[in-house]
Parts: sequence; structure tokens; C-alpha cells
Amino acid sequence: MLNSFPSRRSLLKTAAALPALSAAAAQTAKPDTGPTTSTIQDRDRRMQWWQQDRFGMFIHFGLYSVLGQHEWAMEEEGIPVAEYQLLAKQFNPKPHAARVWAKLAKSAGMKYMVMTTKHHEGFCHFNTKLTDYCAPKQAAGRDLVAEYVEAAQAEGMHFGFYYSLMDWHHPDGARCATDEAARRRFVDYIHGQVNELCSNYGKVGVLWYDVNWPLSPEGWESEKMNRMVRQLQPDILINNRAGIPEDFTTPEQHIQAYDSPWEACMTMNDSWGFNRGDDNWKSPKTVVRNLITCTRDKGNYLLNIGPEADGSIPPQSVEILTSVGKWMDNHGDLIHTADRCQVKSSEFANFTRQGKTLFVHTYFWPGQTVAIGGLQQKVLSARMHPGGQPVKFEQDEWRVKFVGLPQTAPDPIATVIAVEMDAEPTQDQRAIRVNRKRESV
Ligand code: GLC
Repeated sequence: MLNSFPSRRSLLKTAAALPALSAAAAQTAKPDTGPTTSTIQDRDRRMQWWQQDRFGMFIHFGLYSVLGQHEWAMEEEGIPVAEYQLLAKQFNPKPHAARVWAKLAKSAGMKYMVMTTKHHEGFCHFNTKLTDYCAPKQAAGRDLVAEYVEAAQAEGMHFGFYYSLMDWHHPDGARCATDEAARRRFVDYIHGQVNELCSNYGKVGVLWYDVNWPLSPEGWESEKMNRMVRQLQPDILINNRAGIPEDFTTPEQHIQAYDSPWEACMTMNDSWGFNRGDDNWKSPKTVVRNLITCTRDKGNYLLNIGPEADGSIPPQSVEILTSVGKWMDNHGDLIHTADRCQVKSSEFANFTRQGKTLFVHTYFWPGQTVAIGGLQQKVLSARMHPGGQPVKFEQDEWRVKFVGLPQTAPDPIATVIAVEMDAEPTQDQRAIRVNRKRESV
């Protein structure tokens, strides 16, 4: 083992002042204005469970699941309301379909769930006094939100409610933008439903608003609405989509890090709602890589399923999540307990960190040697995770090489090497380009 570590810290000091070179998304440096209807300290306390949970299941379920042509079918195919609403007479999922969702989520290593209680189509899964266009008063004849809550609780999952402000069914849903009487009625309706969701299902983890067309936050009276929510649910987490920042930001279909809490939501194919023709499935490896990237940058990953009308999960999603679950059985501990990790650069590996330990997640296995450039701390020891078999390593001024590894990937999704360092691991790849000794022309 060549553990030579020349005094390079002074050399790297200059280089460290240069911006880090990274193939991955840059950290943004937006000031954290904090939640609008709470304080940052209170937010930090409320968010602890969510930040440890890290990985959640999003569920897009609605009348669009009957059509199986994406959740935007009503608008994108120009389906008249009178025609579309007939789907409510057919939509009758198997009793307790949500139990299967919750079990799958748990076995995939997910810790929380967020289900659409009303999507843009306007149909409500919950028992609402404010409209008959809801599951208990249509073919289903029962409260599907209550079933979902029961299922999540049975598996020990935290749960949240997605709720779309935009509504393609409500008569005031568009004219509210130009007609004050309509706005008053519609905002009362929306606030009334949010009140029902926050009053009738026990302790709710997350309120996940979506699309705030066509009103401004003032028009929605978002601040007033969220104060009501916090009165009913003092510990709830509220996302930013009612037009005010609140507790967390929601990058969609891409991963972007923020200094304040964030959650990337993504689909497994290209659709949120069931879309029988969409075969553009991500591989389990891509899903795991995304989860690692979110973990590295201290964000959450909310991964979607779009069940069919009877509530069954598309087999491709089950397959993907089953493989992800096998990986999580071995590595979930690293995901749920990670600290933010500054180390990013590699074309075949990604990184997470716990204190002074760096975890090298190698998803494209290079063979017997795994080399990482630009680490600025001394490596004390390395071992496989899990298992703990020691890994030999050589470190010089520019790189660490983990050597004597198997030729083929021990874990085809991502093999993990745990690396103990003498301080919090950081990387400066640019220093290599600038300072590495050059030979003659
Ligand atoms: C978008 C879409 C919607 C989906 C949501 C999830 O806003 O309109 O269909 O529910 O993203 O983030």
C-alpha cells in the first residue's frame, strides 16, 4: 500500500480558491428567504423526518388512469367536460389497491408517499362536501384518500397530499381570472377543500400543491390558505407551488440543488398518469444514480408511479422498484443518513458522505482499479460497503487508486467503497488541470 501523502495542502490552497470543475449540476447560492408562514428554525425542526426519509413515492391516480393516455389527456385532446366526467361513472379501483403501493414503496426503500387527491381534471378522491365530483359519490363509492392513508400508515410510511389548484372541471376554474365573483367562489372552494384535507385524515406530512394557473398568489390568497393549513397541521411541510416559497422547492423532471430544502420529482417513464403507450422506462441504475445525486446534494427524490384504473401498478414500474429495493437493502443506510457531499467529479462514480467517510458509488465499473482524482484529504482506510472487506489503495498528490478489485462489478447497479478520510472529504479537480506537472512539448 502506497499511502504517501506529500504536503500538498499548501499547494492546493491556491487551487481551492478556483471554482470547482464539475460535470454535475452546480449548487445554487440563492439566499434562503425561509418559509412565508413560519420561521426557518421551525422549518428545520419540522423537516427533520423528511430529510432523513429522502426517498418517496409519488402517485398519480385519477380518471385519466381509465383513459391511460397521460394525465393531461383532457386538455391536450380537447375532451369536453361533459364527456370526460362520464369517466367518474367507470372509475372504481380494487378495494385497498393502495396497500400494494405502500408495500412496494417500503420494499424499494422509500419512506414517504404523496398521492394526488385532486389533479387538474378536478376529480377528488376524498370525501368533500363541496362537490359531487368525488370518488365517494361516484362509481367508486368510497373515500380513496382514506384508503391511501390507512395503507401508508400500515407500512409505517409518512404520507402527503398532492392537490392541484388549477381545475379544468370547476365552472369558475378559468373565469376566476377575470371575474371577481367567480374568483371569490373558486377560492372559497379551494380553501374549503384544503381545509377538508387537513382536517379529516389525521396528521398529514406534506401538502404538495400543483399548478397555480390562472391566479397570482394574491388571487389564490395563498398566504391566508397556508396559515389555515398550519393552524390545522402545525408540523406539516408545504411546497412552493401555491406561488410562495414555504418549506421546499420542487424541481421537476430534473435534479437541481438548492441551499434551502428541495425535492426533485421524476417519473419512471415520461408520464405521471398511467400512459399505456409510454415505453420510455428508466433503468433501475438510472433511478439509483438519481437518488444518489439527490442524496449527495442534500435533496429528496420523489419517484412516481401511475397506477392503472383498477389501482394496479404497471409491471415495468414494479420491476424497476424491485431492483432498486434490492440495492437499497444493501445501501439504504447511506441514503437516509447522509450529509451534503462536495465531492462530485467522476464519469463512472458518484459520491455520498457521512462525516469524514466518503462513499464511492461506482455505477460503470471500470475493472480492477477505481481511481478518483483531486481528493484533498488523506485516505486512512477503505472497505467495501456492505460487507466491510478491506480495499487496498494507493494515494499520491493527484489521485487515489483503489486496487485489487474484482474484474466485474460486485453490484451491477452501483458498487460502493467506503473511504475513511482524515477530514471531511472535498475534491478539487481543477487543481489537477492547473497544477499537475507538465512535461516538455
Ligand atoms: C406538472 C404537471 C402534472 C404533474 C406535476 C408533477 O405540473 O402538470 O401533470 O402532476 O407536474 O410535478
